[in-house]
Amino acid sequence: MKVAIVGFGTFGQFLAKTFVKQGHVVVGQSRSDYSDAAKELGAEYVSSAAELLARQPDVLILCTSIMSTRTVLERFPLDQLQDVLVVDVLSVKVYPKRLMLDMLPAQADILCTHPMFGPDSGKYSWKGLPFVYEAVRIANQPRCAEFLRIWELEGCSMVQMSCETHDDHAASTQFVTHLTGRTLANLELKSTPINTRGYMSLLGVVETTCNDSFDLFYGLYKYNPNSVAQLDRLEKSLKQVRAQLEAYEQAQQK
Ligand SMILES: NC(=O)c1ccc[n+]([C@@H]2O[C@H](COP(=O)([O-])OP(=O)(O)OC[C@H]3O[C@@H](n4cnc5c(N)ncnc54)[C@H](OP(=O)(O)O)[C@@H]3O)[C@@H](O)[C@H]2O)c1
Repeated sequence: MKVAIVGFGTFGQFLAKTFVKQGHVVVGQSRSDYSDAAKELGAEYVSSAAELLARQPDVLILCTSIMSTRTVLERFPLDQLQDVLVVDVLSVKVYPKRLMLDMLPAQADILCTHPMFGPDSGKYSWKGLPFVYEAVRIANQPRCAEFLRIWELEGCSMVQMSCETHDDHAASTQFVTHLTGRTLANLELKSTPINTRGYMSLLGVVETTCNDSFDLFYGLYKYNPNSVAQLDRLEKSLKQVRAQLEAYEQAQQK
């Protein structure tokens, strides 16, 4: 397949590597100049949307930050998206689904996806890692199936799920993980000679979450309507645990 990747940052390049390995033609385009990185990956790089569309891709993947997706779409010559499968990989799902349904021409197919892994967790293999998707509007079924095949071939666990259900689950899983990582990062935890396994897991959470951009974290908060409630619950829970400890201490002293 010929795959165009709009937003050729960390995650775009991470995906490009595997697509190229599978023999697909990859063309990247982004705000910054990633020509050298693309060359190293065996991909092509163009600097404008016009050049990207001139390559007549089968699939166009939106791999921009959550926060910039609307702007990127507004600046893209969307009317020229005709017989193409448009895929997003944003870590929130209802937001891009609505954006794409509102903005893309009817001739463009829409597949919303969330690979639940990244350059850290999927560094060596994608085997068994969840790939969530919703076929939102698909006229060309074989083309969509061929794209999904890329992930199947890597051994991903294919999870067909509505964007709404995804966001429900993601607030209590992914957002809580990032929230925990960012909160613990403020404690500036250090590795010691007597690390327990549990502590090493915590250090791992801090590292992987803080390796992702703050834009991504903010996007999870801002564009998943369920995230604020999780933030409130975590704050409340910390106070509850403190109250529990203090009450226990008082009971011991009696
Ligand atoms: N990292 C992960 O593990 C992971 C996993 C699953 C899904 N995702 C999703 O993949 C997407 C990309 O994630 P990421 O990790 O690469 O980091 P990110 O910080 O979420 O996004 C970086 C990308 O967004 C582009 N961008 C940022 N601001 C822009 C603007 N104002 N105008 C145009 N482009 C802009 C960057 O382009 P330039 O670099 O050219 O500036 C870069 O390509 C996100 O939607 C994220 O939710 C990430």
